[in-house]
Amino acid sequence: MAEHEQWDIVSSVGFTALLVAAGRAVETCRDDRLVDDPWAQRFVAAANPPSSVPVRPGETWTVHDPDPAIRSEVDGFWTMMATYQGVRSRFFDDALDRAVSAGTDQVVLLAAGLDARALRLPWGSGVTVYEIDQAGVLEFKDEVVEAHDGRPTCDRRVVGVDLRDDWVAALRAQGFDPSRPTAWLAEGLLPFLPADAQETLLRAIDELSAPGSTIAAEHFADVIAMMAHRPSLAALVAPFGVEFPSLISTEERPPAARRLSELGWDVDSVDSPGVARGYGRDLAGLPDGIEFSSDLVTAVKS
Ligand SMILES: C[S@@+](CC[C@H](N)C(=O)[O-])C[C@H]1O[C@@H](n2cnc3c(N)ncnc32)[C@H](O)[C@@H]1O
Repeated sequence: MAEHEQWDIVSSVGFTALLVAAGRAVETCRDDRLVDDPWAQRFVAAANPPSSVPVRPGETWTVHDPDPAIRSEVDGFWTMMATYQGVRSRFFDDALDRAVSAGTDQVVLLAAGLDARALRLPWGSGVTVYEIDQAGVLEFKDEVVEAHDGRPTCDRRVVGVDLRDDWVAALRAQGFDPSRPTAWLAEGLLPFLPADAQETLLRAIDELSAPGSTIAAEHFADVIAMMAHRPSLAALVAPFGVEFPSLISTEERPPAARRLSELGWDVDSVDSPGVARGYGRDLAGLPDGIEFSSDLVTAVKS
C-alpha cells in the first residue's frame, strides 16, 4: 500500500475542511440561512488556528499583504465562498433527505471532514451514517463532539482511512452492507483526488451500490485551478502554512456526471449559480470576470 501524506485539521487538505466549515458558520449566522450548523463555529474555535478564521458575516481573513487590491480580492473571494458553502450544503441536505425519505437507511459521507450532518439532520435512529476521512481529521471532530456532549441523530460510524487506500474494506469492517441501497455524498472532495483515484472511487461506489442507491457529488471544471494560482488565495492561506495549488489535482478527467451515466446511473446535473439563484443567492465576487461554476450532480442507480 502506498504511504500517503497524513494531515490534520490545520494542515494540508485538512485545512480545507476548516475553511468550508467556516463558510457554514457564516451561513448559520444569517437570518435567511439555508443551513443551520451550530457545529461549524465550534470546530473552528477548537482547531485553535494559527491565524483568525472568519465565522460571522462581515468578518475577514487576516492577510499580511500591503497591496489593498489583494486584500479586496480575498474579501470578494470569501464572500462568494461562504455563500457557496450555504448553497451546496442545502442542496446536498435536500438530496440526502429525499434518499432517506424514500427508504434508504445507509448513508456514506465520503471525505466527511467537519460535516456535521450526523448531528444536525433529523435522520432517525434506523439510519446509519458512515463518515470517511483521514483518521486525524475524524479524531479531531470526535474530540469536539464529545467536548460539547454531541448526540448523533443516527447511528454514526467513523471510518478513518485515506480514500486512495482500501477504504472499501475499512467501510465494510464498520458494518456497511452493499446489499442495501446507499446514499453516497462526495461534497468538496473530487478536486483533491488525482484523476485515477477519482475513477477508482466512482467504480467502487458503483460496485457497492444496490439498485435504488443514490449519489450526490460536486464537479468543478476549471474555476478552482484558475483561482488556485491567484496571489490573493496564496495570501489567504499563507498564515496557515498551506500552499493551495499543491492540494488540488488539475489532471484531466471526465465530469463525474458523464462517468456515472456511462456506469448506468440515471443522472441529473445542475450548475451551482442556477441553484444559488433559486435560493435567492448570487455567487458573484471573483476577480477579473472569473465566473464561479460547479456542477451539482445527483444520480440514482436503477
Ligand atoms: C473541502 S473539505 C470537504 C469536507 C466535507 N465534505 C465538507 O464539505 O464539509 C475536503 C476533505 O477531503 C478530505 N480528503 C481529501 N483527500 C482525501 C483522501 N485522499 N482521503 C480521505 N479524505 C480526503 C480532507 O481531509 C477534507 O476533510
